[in-house]
Amino acid sequence: TTDPLVIFTPSGKRGHFPVGTPVLTAARQLGVDLDSVCGGRGICSKCQITPSYGEFSKHGVTVAADALSDWNSVEERYDSIRGLKQGRRLGCQAQILRDVVIDVPAESQVHKQVVRKRAEVREITMNPSTRLYYVEVQEPDMHDPSGDLERLVTALCRDWDLPDLEADLGVLRNLQKALRKGAWKVTVAVHLGDAVFSPRIVAIWPGFYEGTIYGLAVDLGSTTIAAHLCDLRSGEVVASSGIMNPQIRFGEDLMSRVSYGMMNPTGSDEMTRAVREGMNALFVQIASEAQIDRDLIMDAVFVCNPVMHHLFLGIDAYELGQAPFALATSDALSLRALELDLNLHPAARVYILPCIAGHVGADAAAVALSEAPDKSEDLVLIVDVGTNAEILLGNREKVLACSSPTGPAFEGAQISSGQRAAPGAIEHVEIDPVTKLPRFKVIGSDIWSDEDGFAETIAQTGVTGICGSGIIEVIAEMRMTGIVDGPGLIGSAEQTGSPNCFADGRTNSYLLYDGTAAGGPLITVTNTDVRQIQMAKAALYSGARLLMDKFGVDKVDRVVLAGAFGAHISPKHAMVLGMIPDAPLDKVTSAGNAAGTGARIALLNTDARAEIESIVRQIHKIETAIEPRFQEHFVNASAIPNAVEPFPILNA
Ligand code: FES
Repeated sequence: TTDPLVIFTPSGKRGHFPVGTPVLTAARQLGVDLDSVCGGRGICSKCQITPSYGEFSKHGVTVAADALSDWNSVEERYDSIRGLKQGRRLGCQAQILRDVVIDVPAESQVHKQVVRKRAEVREITMNPSTRLYYVEVQEPDMHDPSGDLERLVTALCRDWDLPDLEADLGVLRNLQKALRKGAWKVTVAVHLGDAVFSPRIVAIWPGFYEGTIYGLAVDLGSTTIAAHLCDLRSGEVVASSGIMNPQIRFGEDLMSRVSYGMMNPTGSDEMTRAVREGMNALFVQIASEAQIDRDLIMDAVFVCNPVMHHLFLGIDAYELGQAPFALATSDALSLRALELDLNLHPAARVYILPCIAGHVGADAAAVALSEAPDKSEDLVLIVDVGTNAEILLGNREKVLACSSPTGPAFEGAQISSGQRAAPGAIEHVEIDPVTKLPRFKVIGSDIWSDEDGFAETIAQTGVTGICGSGIIEVIAEMRMTGIVDGPGLIGSAEQTGSPNCFADGRTNSYLLYDGTAAGGPLITVTNTDVRQIQMAKAALYSGARLLMDKFGVDKVDRVVLAGAFGAHISPKHAMVLGMIPDAPLDKVTSAGNAAGTGARIALLNTDARAEIESIVRQIHKIETAIEPRFQEHFVNASAIPNAVEPFPILNA
């Protein structure tokens, strides 16, 4: 053939096209990922490309500077109004004249990759469920008496290959005005449909809509509700915000909320109302932070534990409070935001990830989506630590899951000086191996307690208590310096050589900070505190150990700590306590808010929804409550680090 050869980078796709073929047409025929919202009319500028000139030995072609047609009037006009970046062309206008190599910049790709912030970058491929399309619609005609919607749908079929779409009533009501105002040119938002909903037009704007539409990724926790507002075109997070879960007033932990529902005939409904109201308040907050109209939020993805899942949906959580912990449904749900009383765009959709089991929720499914144990070559243990630890163990062969009732000690609750992670809470502790005296750092300050300037820290934040990560560090340090023994007893000052040990009733306590002279608190670690942490960490460890039994292994290749708390735990201290199995310290990483990331992935890529639904079906669920070995592991794991299991890597 003598037709010019066209090569697209970075995809490397190539083909011959007749002289005069627009670049966008060539890209479409080759399946090159080149965006277009206006359908090639020179309006949206999403189709920008850069022709590469010069010699491309890699591709074996030499291209001339005049390989593409000169600017036409559409491009001229676009450039004079908005300006095209140097070297850029509109792919829908530029025509192919000779052999050419054409680069599609990242921002012109539909399925662009959104880079996550963390170091181990896993990219999210954009494939959102709601998208914008610009079309030009046939004007009505006395001889062709069809409705405006029919002609709009025909245009969408013709230009965008969309199926026969339906339209929401809200769209129908605006349709005629929008078409006439836009001189028969409109932009529509189309929800592409899923297992539940057929594809529908959900919003309409006259002419070419310059703006974007948004989606929310919501991590509905028992204590906090966190949301990320994402641009559904670019994938960018434009605002993030969080509030306390208003259900807290019905009970700090989940089980007390379940029992509140059992004791009060209207309890369950009250809690549902509270969480939905809280959610709406959060949406107002995040929309105002991003300075957008809430009506532009058209999609939302929720992840949550099973109890929150039920209470948010308005389902009584009674069955989750007792064996065999049956969920009303564990399937993923696709709903209308209106059904959940959420004030977003009236046609906004809500997707809730599937739950794994009665105790392992959609939040754990989101962690699985984000951390992808099912794709891991090596055996990875993932723990999401909260009042209930959700644990996943697996690799490409199989993935197992369980939950373990750690209780709230890791969050600083039920600890004598415990508190939530907030400014003033002790979060890092070191104990000198010789003097056996402590030094510490509080949240909100970078200065250790034995350094100059600590007085300013006290003046600013005070020292108010110990948070979850602080209590783990102090007890691990106490173990390393012999202040606490393997079974978990705090020794006396004589036994330990630490002047900070003192008799406290029938046991001993360890003094961490005495602020009483200045009217501040006395912060100590009591033997009961040590016991609480022993129970919590034993529950966590035995859940992990049980999964290892089921997998037939006695070590794991790596450990991932997920959850906000996981982000603050020091791996070394966690291992000294025997919270997690022995593993090389550099193989223990934090995944940050992996559940929130999983929600974001499901929001931006509908394929990921199908993916997690299938992964969850394949995860083997282990119920710790009925496993006899769980008890055995629990007893052994109550010792620090463990009564029977050696920690060879840690001890080395
Ligand atoms: Fe919209 Fe080219 S496709 S400007």
